[in-house]
Amino acid sequence: MSKSKTRIKASFNGPYIVEGRAPIQETSIEKDPITQNWTYKQNHLLKTEGKTTKLCRCGHSSTMPFCDESHICQHFDGTCTAPHKPFAQDAQAVEGPNFTLLDNEMYCAFGRFCDAFGRVWNLVRQGKKETDQLAIKETLSCPGGRLMIIDNQTGEIIEEPAQPQIKILQDAALNCMGPIYAKGGIEIIDDQEKPYEIRARQALCRCGKSHNKPFCDGSHALDTGEKETPNNSGLPKSST
Ligand code: FES
Repeated sequence: MSKSKTRIKASFNGPYIVEGRAPIQETSIEKDPITQNWTYKQNHLLKTEGKTTKLCRCGHSSTMPFCDESHICQHFDGTCTAPHKPFAQDAQAVEGPNFTLLDNEMYCAFGRFCDAFGRVWNLVRQGKKETDQLAIKETLSCPGGRLMIIDNQTGEIIEEPAQPQIKILQDAALNCMGPIYAKGGIEIIDDQEKPYEIRARQALCRCGKSHNKPFCDGSHALDTGEKETPNNSGLPKSST
């Protein structure tokens, strides 16, 4: 996909440097009390000044989501270890009659949007009109971009057009900070100034604990004792 004018650089053992004017908004992941589906609740827009904004990625700032230089006294090791491989290279394909789901577990940010209504992998395999629509909705809600969905007839990737936007996620159900959700083709640059493949939905670690920096791997949920990574068999898989 084409890249936007906004880009996010992971600085060496320091914060994310956001360049460009994409809005930055506090957003929480909550369970809809009626549908029991996971949903985003948009909260307030953050005020930013100047051409760049520094967002904490060590997890220790007292002025979250902004960096307050705490990474220095915390001796933060922010080494970016995520490989520069195309998403599809390590993705598993789950084929349904009408749509094919591509699943790359490396980018799971534990958003849990894929869990509802019997889980996205089962939905896509069923191939009914309503299950296909749910599978598309759940895939496009996935903040980490672990999931991608392709129309079997046209071969096209389904993605909703979105302006570049940055969401500071809070996981209300787990009462913990979530990742930074970069939506709309924002370019992500590693700590060696090397750009990653541009993806529509990407989640960046802001707890400092991911093993796939700069991307979120759901480690923020580990402390809550809740994390288990859904897999494409439709059964939960305990994470390490
Ligand atoms: S990266 Fe600077 S305070 Fe966290």
